[in-house]
Amino acid sequence: MSIIINDLVENYIDGLYKCKNEFLKDMRAFAEQNNIPIITKDTEQFMSILLTIHRPRRLLEIGTAIGYSAMSFAATSDELEIVSIELGDKMYDLALKNIADAGLNPRIKVIKGDAREVLSNINPEFDMIFIDAAKGQYKLFFDDSQKLLSPKGIIVSDNVLYKGMTASNEYLVKRKRTIVKRMREYLKYISNHPEYETAVLPIGDGIAVSVRKG
Ligand SMILES: C[S@@+](CC[C@H](N)C(=O)[O-])C[C@H]1O[C@@H](n2cnc3c(N)ncnc32)[C@H](O)[C@@H]1O
Repeated sequence: MSIIINDLVENYIDGLYKCKNEFLKDMRAFAEQNNIPIITKDTEQFMSILLTIHRPRRLLEIGTAIGYSAMSFAATSDELEIVSIELGDKMYDLALKNIADAGLNPRIKVIKGDAREVLSNINPEFDMIFIDAAKGQYKLFFDDSQKLLSPKGIIVSDNVLYKGMTASNEYLVKRKRTIVKRMREYLKYISNHPEYETAVLPIGDGIAVSVRKG
């Protein structure tokens, strides 16, 4: 059940979703069976539209998991190159296997490590950045990765409404207090950032789209 949007509306929108290929279909099923969080169907669809409009040549992703989102982004254009960062050993190995099986080497390169360290050793520049890792670290990821962003580039932050908890204490689970506090500070920060125009959208678990004014 979703708190961000009404269940009936969510199910209706999901019913309109069409998977781009068999690899992605199998990977979504695998993620569901193994409780691995990947982008929701509506987030995937929204990202496809954004990628089709913006046409980035290089995209940086923070948080690869099994490689699902990176592979779905790659399916929008043969020209797109992706660099994705993943901390977990198991996720990294699964992502490499999935990417190789789908023949997406070397268009998708996965770097193993903590994004907080890896980001200072990556060459610019990226036309789009997708942040989808530890929610308490988003400000850090934003500040460090935006140095690698091209003028008029876009930063998309996923899961920013965090099951509604960011928006209202009514949904707040006590043990998530610190992460939620940080996410609220993050949204305030990017919404008031002088170099970016930001919209927070109730898609999936909440998406923030920040466009560099250039
Ligand atoms: C929500 S999952 C990513 C899902 C993926 N983007 C998708 O939609 O298919 C978040 C991933 O970020 C990774 N992660 C968390 N903190 C990280 C960090 N500091 N640096 C790199 N990866 C991190 C986790 O290991 C996890 O696999």
